[in-house]
Amino acid sequence: MAPRTASLKKPNFIDMTTTRTIGIGILGFGTVGQGVWKHLTEKQSDLESRLGVKLDLRKAAVRDLKKKRGVKIAASKLTKNPLEVIEDPKVHVVCELIGGTTKARELTLRALSLGKVVVSANKALLCEHGPEIFAAVRKHGGQFLFEASVAGGIPIIKAIREGLVANRFDLIVGILNGTCNHILTRMGEDGLSFEDALKEAQTLGYAEADPTLDVDGIDAWHKASILAWLAHGKWAPAARTLVEGIRKIGPADIDFARRFGFALKHLAVIRRDFKAGWMTVGVYPALVPNRDILARVSGVNNGITLRGDVAGATTLTGRGAGGDATASAVIGDIVDAIAALTGAAPQGLSSEALATREKAGRALRMADLDEIVSPFYLRLSLLDKAGVSEGVYRIFSKHKVSIARVIQYEHPNQGRGTVTLSTYPVSERKMSAVLTELRRLKTVLEEPVILRIFSPES
Ligand code: NAP
Ligand code: HSE
Repeated sequence: MAPRTASLKKPNFIDMTTTRTIGIGILGFGTVGQGVWKHLTEKQSDLESRLGVKLDLRKAAVRDLKKKRGVKIAASKLTKNPLEVIEDPKVHVVCELIGGTTKARELTLRALSLGKVVVSANKALLCEHGPEIFAAVRKHGGQFLFEASVAGGIPIIKAIREGLVANRFDLIVGILNGTCNHILTRMGEDGLSFEDALKEAQTLGYAEADPTLDVDGIDAWHKASILAWLAHGKWAPAARTLVEGIRKIGPADIDFARRFGFALKHLAVIRRDFKAGWMTVGVYPALVPNRDILARVSGVNNGITLRGDVAGATTLTGRGAGGDATASAVIGDIVDAIAALTGAAPQGLSSEALATREKAGRALRMADLDEIVSPFYLRLSLLDKAGVSEGVYRIFSKHKVSIARVIQYEHPNQGRGTVTLSTYPVSERKMSAVLTELRRLKTVLEEPVILRIFSPES
């Protein structure tokens, strides 16, 4: 079963009977660090009212104080000395967003030795030094949280540790590297070269500082190894893991996949045979049948299917890399850690949090029928007589509802025909007015069948 070593117990250095402000320090102000700072600042008052404490964004450590940053931060909040962040007695939560395994290890262990909470996005560090890190957690009573280390904004760690805790997984299969998936998608769908697609992933902040970690499969191996440990309690040794990257993939491979009903994906596959007592971990490019949900996970998105003995197969998909998605996971961990420190009820369920939500809810109204908009599909059974369709279209035109597509089916000798059509986006109120008039037409022989055409945008 999943080791629960990332325990949410109270670090011994905080007395929550007197502390009502939680200090947050950040190591690294790059893609992820800036995302965390930006979204914590924007959501600060909402998070404070949920948690019942004040949040104090203390400082961020960087290498180069002169570097231009995309996110606004006062010069006084930046430091070149990470220890200034870690050793600040007012910093309770340290976010390690530097990357790498040398300095990051040293700083993480220092923060943990002080009993602090460390929130990390660093899969390489966890994979290579997990046992040492959790030994420090146990020794000093701090916490180490790592939701952001696997699959960007997808709460996969939480899903395994909490939501799916009743399950034993014989298969975990996923697309765990956003850079590889972005490259394969751009090569396959847009004909970009490997080099251009990689450059794009770097510009968008998806790739590691050393992108060979992405394209050679090492980053996905780090993540697969974390998932395997979480699900099965065992770190997969590098020597016993099949690790292949995507450098060898060319247009002919992508073309074969497309012709024969596959998508080319970089997969992480963790299998467990409970009877025989073995586990395998592998990361490699693979042909995935188009019918599999993972075949449709494209671009920077990641997707993970967990096959559990209780829940069956559950798939989570979402953005797997980038500052915003990763910040979402880091902030989730920060909030969990603070809730544990303060003894707050599970997220969003304390009576204060519910009261705050309800207060915000009082200012909220339910949308009016004019504001609910979508394209519609309609099936009409019509009398087979000249001029009938015109009568129908006149109603659409009267209510300014534009028709996008029409198909007419004739049923010889039955005296009736079927018309199916779709509209451009229109409000529920207008569509309802159209429907009311259609029902009154003697030439409409049956109750019209109306379906909404779903679009995430409307
Ligand atoms: P990044 O853009 O390269 O940022 C790294 C930051 O760390 C920079 O601000 C850098 O300072 C700072 N830094 C490096 N060494 C330092 C040192 N010794 N002392 C103080 N500051 C130091 O990297 P990132 O993409 O944000 O990634 C950070 C971590 O998150 C990595 O572990 C990565 O694997 C993980 N992650 C990244 C993503 C993503 O989509 N990018 C997603 C999930 C997880 P300067 O800015 O002054 O150079
Ligand atoms: N470089 C990583 C990726 C960042 O592309 O998936 C997210 O862990």
